[in-house]
Amino acid sequence: MKNVLFVASEGVPFIKTGGLADVVGSLPKCIDKRYFDVRVIIPKYTCMKQEWKDKLTFKTSFYMDFHWKNEYVGILEAEVDGVKYYFIDNEMYFGGFKPYGSDTLFEIEKFAFFSKAVLSALPLLDFKPDIIHCHDWQTGLVPVYLQERFQGNDFFHGIRTVMTIHNLKFQGKWDTKSIRDITGLPEYYFMPDKLECYKDANLLKGGLVFADAITTVSETYAEEIKTDFYGEGLNGLLCARAGDLRGIVNGIDYDDFNPEKDTMITHHYNAMNFRKEKIKNKRALQEELGLDKTDKTMMIGIVSRLTDQKGLDLVSYIMDEWCGTDNIQLVVLGTGDEQYENMFRHYDWKYHGKVSANIYYSEDLSHRVYAACDAFLMPSLFEPCGLSQLMALRYGTVPIVRETGGLKDTVEPYNEYESTGTGFSFVNYNAHEMLSCIRYAEKVYYENKREWNKIVDRGMGTDYSWHVSAMKYQEMYDWLIG
Ligand code: ADP
Ligand code: GLC
Repeated sequence: MKNVLFVASEGVPFIKTGGLADVVGSLPKCIDKRYFDVRVIIPKYTCMKQEWKDKLTFKTSFYMDFHWKNEYVGILEAEVDGVKYYFIDNEMYFGGFKPYGSDTLFEIEKFAFFSKAVLSALPLLDFKPDIIHCHDWQTGLVPVYLQERFQGNDFFHGIRTVMTIHNLKFQGKWDTKSIRDITGLPEYYFMPDKLECYKDANLLKGGLVFADAITTVSETYAEEIKTDFYGEGLNGLLCARAGDLRGIVNGIDYDDFNPEKDTMITHHYNAMNFRKEKIKNKRALQEELGLDKTDKTMMIGIVSRLTDQKGLDLVSYIMDEWCGTDNIQLVVLGTGDEQYENMFRHYDWKYHGKVSANIYYSEDLSHRVYAACDAFLMPSLFEPCGLSQLMALRYGTVPIVRETGGLKDTVEPYNEYESTGTGFSFVNYNAHEMLSCIRYAEKVYYENKREWNKIVDRGMGTDYSWHVSAMKYQEMYDWLIG
């Protein structure tokens, strides 16, 4: 049996702000239990739902030297769907109404604490990992501390590390002096071949330098991040480590996202009966959100963090031209940058009955949007993988995407001559290219429903469960352990 420990800042069902939590919550379940014991460690946030906090039991606690102080580290545990979770408790760091705040330096301190606490806790867990699998910048210091501070101790000897990039945009950087002070790492680590990055110190870079293997969440993104445009300043390093970098596309939990059984949607359906049954969800959502009640109008959904990454400036640019003319309904569910939140609120007011802006976070409503809509719009500027388009495919909702990162790898563009493809896509980051792609989809929807339904058929027939990708992770673990 090989032991793998996932270290991450969020994980479903305990805490989620985006796709990282979906991955951390679903991938461990799908790794073959005959060969691997995969466990997960995340912070215990005060803002976790009470329902989940109630499931945690206290395991142990200790005090750890960190940032010139002696800090409390509590360890709690829980088991969900056969996967063991550990939680690091410290209310000073993990209190508050949200998992993440806007004070970058405090965030860095918080996750430096987390990374060191995870390693310090290991000997107390009765679980010695062969591999520590780190996710995103918040855990970038784990491979660094492991080498610098822990590897000398026999218990840690031989532990391998993997660093997975879910989003290269976020790196955890700040001035070197402050980060040296917080982490307690010696000067040796703050050189350009280690944590230093354009004069600052960079936690993700530390992880990328010291991890034994690097992965990211789609093959295309693995290539893109080696270029200037997508590389966020780390493309040089990623090129240098290209031999240790691989792209493994994400999957989604096919039990949680299943239109046949989903308890959050109003009417169940499947790949056989969606032609008759799926529309009942559209009617229900029109009723719920106060949209005009028409069966025939094409309904397009957006479920997203409302940030620049997601291509919303393109949407903003054509909203009037699109919604003022075309026969469509647009349902938006998301939170994020104020400019986008207000933009959608404005168009909800202007095109009432046609546009519905739901500026909040709701797991339940997100499932109903995936189930009710005819198409799903995701015109991202960059997209490491993207899970929303996979959820849309699973619910027979045709994705309209920009060809970048995981969107390119998971949505096959419709080809009317060969009758192939699972969605619609455009290449350039251009609002009118997006609009003409949307209008092409509208044309097929309104003028050739049979063809449209075949696109849905093919989309629902794709398999983006973890089945294939989990095996790729296993192969990598095997290769690392040797
Ligand atoms: P990212 O991780 O970049 O935000 P992904 O497509 O990988 O993008 O994952 C986004 C996840 O967050 C999906 O599960 C999506 O359904 C969910 N999500 C985003 N915004 C909301 C919201 N306002 N309410 C509910 N779920 C949301
Ligand atoms: C990040 C990316 C998203 C990806 C998710 C899970 O949040 O933005 O594209 O699907 O992580 O890997």
